[in-house]
Amino acid sequence: MDYRQYIAKKLNVEGVAAEDIVLPPNSDMGDYALPCFKLAKIFKKSPAIIAEELKNSFKTDNIISKVSAVNGYLNFSLNKTNLSYGVLNEILNLGKNYGSSDEGKGKTVCIDYSSVNIAKPFHIGHLSTTVLGGALYKLYKFLGYNVVGINHLGDYGTQFGKLICAYKHWGNKEEIEKGGIHAINELYVRFNTQADEEMEREAREYFRLIENGDKEANETFEWFKSLTLKYVQGIYEKLGIKFDSYAGERFYTDKMQPVIDELKEKHLLKESEGAQVVDLEPYGMPPCLILRSDGASLYATRDLAAATYRKNHYNFYKNLYVVAYQQNLHFKQVFKVLELMGKEWAKDCVHVAFGMVSLEDGAMSTRKGKVVWLEDVINKCVEKAYEVICDKNPDLDNKGSIAEKVGIGAVIFGALYNNKIKDIVFSYDKVLSFEGETSVYVQYTAARANSVLSKSGLNITVPQNYEPNEQEAEVIKELAVFPEVLKEAADKYEPCYVSRFAVSLAQKFNKFYIECKILTAEGAAKDFRLALTYATLQTIKNALAILGIEVPEKM
Ligand code: ARG
Repeated sequence: MDYRQYIAKKLNVEGVAAEDIVLPPNSDMGDYALPCFKLAKIFKKSPAIIAEELKNSFKTDNIISKVSAVNGYLNFSLNKTNLSYGVLNEILNLGKNYGSSDEGKGKTVCIDYSSVNIAKPFHIGHLSTTVLGGALYKLYKFLGYNVVGINHLGDYGTQFGKLICAYKHWGNKEEIEKGGIHAINELYVRFNTQADEEMEREAREYFRLIENGDKEANETFEWFKSLTLKYVQGIYEKLGIKFDSYAGERFYTDKMQPVIDELKEKHLLKESEGAQVVDLEPYGMPPCLILRSDGASLYATRDLAAATYRKNHYNFYKNLYVVAYQQNLHFKQVFKVLELMGKEWAKDCVHVAFGMVSLEDGAMSTRKGKVVWLEDVINKCVEKAYEVICDKNPDLDNKGSIAEKVGIGAVIFGALYNNKIKDIVFSYDKVLSFEGETSVYVQYTAARANSVLSKSGLNITVPQNYEPNEQEAEVIKELAVFPEVLKEAADKYEPCYVSRFAVSLAQKFNKFYIECKILTAEGAAKDFRLALTYATLQTIKNALAILGIEVPEKM
């Protein structure tokens, strides 16, 4: 149930909507509050008087049991008995679907994420786009949207001519097959450091051959591509990431001309130093390059074609690009050009920008020669998780598979805990701590709940008319807001709302766990506490599943 909406409706005051109802800083003040400051202007009365008057006219019921007016705020307290009964039953009934909705029914969201570059390292800089996109993908699905995950492969450009040239000179089939993406990348780096004029010329020729559909050049290119994809797909599998389309930049080769023609027709193309550009000066941006003076297309040209294709093909409701903030200008330009072309759907294109990830030891993600491969980060985290688990619980069975879930979860959670725009410094010790705001802490809480439940051996039933104590009520309130949290996370493209929710729920549950007996409680209290434990475990599982993190039964 959406309590904000409920309160706003019941208040029935003009200008007050669900969004105006806030969560008070501490729960002594109630569960929800309406700040009356904004209303002061409208009603020409002081906020304190407005709050007092609204309090007097508000009729409490079996959902809102108390209202109070304090310092210009109108505070609402939920009826915890009814709330508990409702929420616990809802979770019991819905199970893994608790929090899901059908708000997205009939709407399609395209999500462009991870978008790897063929033959280039898949490094820690790709972590955020991959797990953020993956989480948004699962989140929108959970909310009933039709979701299309797109890996807009970087598979276009002169570098592939260089690569083929390097392969012809120095490469060897068996070595490449064996070394995969690492070997391919070495060839590329070698070309960039050792190629002479003659090789540069050859490389341009190979690129031309690829472009002109030469069989051998294309086969070699496709081979590099398949090796790269095989490699990244191994990582996607570990991270629980899926794509519905791998239509990369090359896919748009024959789809750019119509866009260029349309730009011309609409008098948007201008010549500038031999190149064709769209002038964006009136909008305070540099021109958007469409064709270079040699007639070659650019990254933006392919993105214009891709956006158009996505609209025509998927008829998206929203078209998201999960790409680092370094490309802010690029997307602003592309969206502006679409708008100038008269595409009303340009407003539905969103750049979901995020900050950089670096490692604690200062090794930056992309600096030359100092590439940190994402695979190595994942492996190291799993290894460390194994050590941590051995340390904490040496008698545990299946330590290997638990370490996988814990280690991979920590990598994902580490990238999804902060607002996405923030730069993150990744620290193995921090993300693997049992105590901080980590996935490990949440998973451990779930394992704790699981252990209580397996010892109880009881069927779960929710007692009626049970009045929860303070710790219980705190857990209940947290459980109750999960559906709202998901909606907000989707609206703001912020999976961190979900990770923060999971930590907060775990904290509240642990407080309850420490303060209240569960298995040794009696009667209704025992039933209630077991139901609460069950509901917490289920909700943690649901939240972590959206982030792509599994919950081990034991830890
Ligand atoms: N491959 C690009 C890069 O690594 C990201 C592509 C993002 N998607 C897009 N449609 N431009 O920078």
